[in-house]
Amino acid sequence: MLRFLTAGESHGTACSAIVEGAPSGLCIPKKKVEEEIILRQVGYCRGWRQAVEKNELEITSGIHDSLSTGAPINITVYNTEGVKNPVWRKSLGAYPEELDKIELSKEDAVREKRRNVFIPGHADMPGIIKYRHPEGNLRFISDRASARETIVRVAVGAVAKLFLKEFGVEIYSYITQIGGVKDETTDCFSTQSQLQKKIKSIDKEIVDNFKSTIKEIEREGLTIFDVSSAEIAKNRKRIIDILHGNLEKLSDCAKVKCPHEPTAKKMVDEIAAAREEGDTAGGAFKVIATNLPPGLGSYTHYDKRLSSRIAASVMGIPAAKGVEFGRGFEAAELRGSKMHDPIRLKGKTFFSRDTNNAGGVEGGMTNSEPLIVGVAIKPISMISKKAVKTVDIDAGKETTKTSGERADVSAAPSATVVGEALVAIELANAMMEKFGGDHMTEIKENYENYMRYVAGFYNGIKGK
Ligand SMILES: Cc1cc2nc3c(=O)[nH]c(=O)nc-3n(C[C@H](O)[C@H](O)[C@H](O)COP(=O)(O)O)c2cc1C
Repeated sequence: MLRFLTAGESHGTACSAIVEGAPSGLCIPKKKVEEEIILRQVGYCRGWRQAVEKNELEITSGIHDSLSTGAPINITVYNTEGVKNPVWRKSLGAYPEELDKIELSKEDAVREKRRNVFIPGHADMPGIIKYRHPEGNLRFISDRASARETIVRVAVGAVAKLFLKEFGVEIYSYITQIGGVKDETTDCFSTQSQLQKKIKSIDKEIVDNFKSTIKEIEREGLTIFDVSSAEIAKNRKRIIDILHGNLEKLSDCAKVKCPHEPTAKKMVDEIAAAREEGDTAGGAFKVIATNLPPGLGSYTHYDKRLSSRIAASVMGIPAAKGVEFGRGFEAAELRGSKMHDPIRLKGKTFFSRDTNNAGGVEGGMTNSEPLIVGVAIKPISMISKKAVKTVDIDAGKETTKTSGERADVSAAPSATVVGEALVAIELANAMMEKFGGDHMTEIKENYENYMRYVAGFYNGIKGK
């Protein structure tokens, strides 16, 4: 079983994960992990933050010469701005030796003070009551509760995806809704492979766009690290200009990660409208996994159901407000005769289904149809202009002035990558549980043996 723990804060020096249970003999190229991290980080909906969050990936154990050794894998993603920024070091530094050396400018000290205002929708208010942080510092709460930590869940997910790929399992995701704009039309892709191809090309476009932004920033010799505040302010503006210039060059599909062009255009307009109003927007996405063998998970106990394991994991995405499988909540209004997918003997190697309303899970087990997991994401809580009433805990007064630090418009497109990672981790676990072994070769032998049995079972019935 793949187990992992994460540590780290949003504006701290690093986020890290220790992954235990990866079998030996799995090829884990660093580049693959880095690409997943980029996909989570960048995007049209993300404002300028991705340019300043320079993420450095370090893997210090459990892999030798790109192959897993079977020992725990230690993954760290450094936030290079977090290492240098004096405001964050002062707020989050671990020991007095470090804290006493940091002198904040008056301006920074005042700005930091504003973190004593609860942000509605964030963990602030219940968090400070529960953990009793000194001087009511909300930074401790928001920094751990925020989604920065998902960067290492994505890195662990990259390992899980590489594992699944060895068995032909592919995982991809796309946006189905931004604010009031819903994609009702992804069915225009007549096969899963057409949809998958389109999504892969969108992902490549996003990664290439980000890489060319970084190259341009470096070509101009710009850095926001190790320089004075004034220099940072000057560089930031130019970096934002480069970044926005490049993001505008993305196709509408890549801007919002929606494969259907006319809908993507409407979603881009929805994002622009929310940005213009100084507001934020929610969204929804789907994660799809194909080529799964039947029988992953189990109906025998509630916590063995694959659907309950995936649902719990996906609901751990900050801002996730709902999860569904296949037709999900729509199932409540369908007649049984319209909901349940007919089982046919027409398949080449397995029973075929005319529809996949169940989303690939029946009785908490995979049924060999594509797994379809839908997730709803609430609008970002940090709103720059349209204020929501809250409380300043220093002044003991109601206010509408919350910190505008790093406000993005929607987390939904970035959350798709986190969703993929979490589904991949749960699927990899279910595969390891079923086909357990310590080395990839052993797991593959167990898998192939089962698949032979499955084919025999099907052919035996078909041949009657
Ligand atoms: C990838 C991703 C990025 C996010 N970025 C931000 C952000 O920049 N600002 C913000 O206020 N919330 C952001 N969020 C959402 C908050 O983390 C979330 O609203 C908060 O954790 C409270 O949600 P909860 O009640 O579901 O935990 C992001 C979420 C995800 C998944």
